[in-house]
Amino acid sequence: MAKITMTVNGKSVSGDVEGRTLLVDYLRQGLGLTGTHVGCDTSQCGACVVHVDGMAVKSCTVFAADLEGADVVTIEGVADAEGSLGALQQAFRDHHGLQCGYCTPGMVMSAAALLAENPKPTEAEVRHYLEGNICRCTGYQNIVKAVLAASGQDVSTFAAE
Ligand code: FES
Ligand code: FES
Repeated sequence: MAKITMTVNGKSVSGDVEGRTLLVDYLRQGLGLTGTHVGCDTSQCGACVVHVDGMAVKSCTVFAADLEGADVVTIEGVADAEGSLGALQQAFRDHHGLQCGYCTPGMVMSAAALLAENPKPTEAEVRHYLEGNICRCTGYQNIVKAVLAASGQDVSTFAAE
């Protein structure tokens, strides 16, 4: 077991983890932050994406024990201070960027990382950036639309699916 301390959604947390404990399992089972989902066993789906030190990371691919001192943000940290939806979450809602919602936490976290490094992405750039996130429901069109809308771009002529 290793003792780790990290910042999660702005709060310092400490715990004992086994060397094999994945970050996603520490977040969900150790900290009760079940908004981060597990959708595969193969590092493909992106449902588990969180931010680690400002970068989008598939939390099923990293060990919690390796993240001593890291700054982690999960989907629970995206809502604003009053607990209402953050701008990107609201855009997903407004533009029907989700159906079952299983992929949505990872989509939002990946999209947030994209907008942080590229505030006005093109449609092609959004699609390219979200290649590591799989959605089984939406066909992606409205997800892309939501991300473009959240970036402040006019999506009135963007084809709906
Ligand atoms: Fe991490 Fe699928 S659960 S990529
Ligand atoms: Fe169902 Fe994306 S909304 S998997």
